[in-house]
Amino acid sequence: MQPNPSQRDLYNGLTRLEPTLPSSAYRDADGYLRDLDAIWYRSWLMVCREADLADPLAFRAIRIGSQEVVVLRDETGSLRAFHNTCRHRGSQLCQESAGRLKARLLTCPYHAWSYSLRGDLVRVPSKSLPEGFDKTDYPLYRVALSVWRGFVFINLAKDAGGTAEASFDPASGDLANWPLETLVTGHRLSKVMNCNW
Ligand code: FES
Repeated sequence: MQPNPSQRDLYNGLTRLEPTLPSSAYRDADGYLRDLDAIWYRSWLMVCREADLADPLAFRAIRIGSQEVVVLRDETGSLRAFHNTCRHRGSQLCQESAGRLKARLLTCPYHAWSYSLRGDLVRVPSKSLPEGFDKTDYPLYRVALSVWRGFVFINLAKDAGGTAEASFDPASGDLANWPLETLVTGHRLSKVMNCNW
């Protein structure tokens, strides 16, 4: 039944039936890969609150599809994000999902290559390095990071530029009068769902 005009003025939702996604979109493996490529690997994604990484050396590891990213606060107070992958043989650097680093270095547990919290390779214990090996050629792979009003966003796209805020749809609402900066995390709920996004 179509709402009459006065009812329609009460809300801004749909006023007629519209086709939705086929059910296969929620369970199809190829659809999942398309979701990753079209959305998760190229959009600004909110990963935590800035206050969740309040102290220097605090970190979080986040998995997005097949990618794992470590977000940390360095010793100068800057937030940074890197692929959680060593440049030597690709070992996972941070093996906990969250915590505080024990030093101002990210040290790989496999052969102990160490990276500064800016992502530069600073120490390679092996004495038998190939000729011409230059540590500056092997920084961690950086991930774009942007903070908006206390929310930390990352973007896995290679060419990610600008800010998370610039990607918001201005028509989605004005939050200027909402004190987002002062919010604190009161409860965290994680759920793994066996379906596509
Ligand atoms: S894989 Fe990291 S040091 Fe070898």
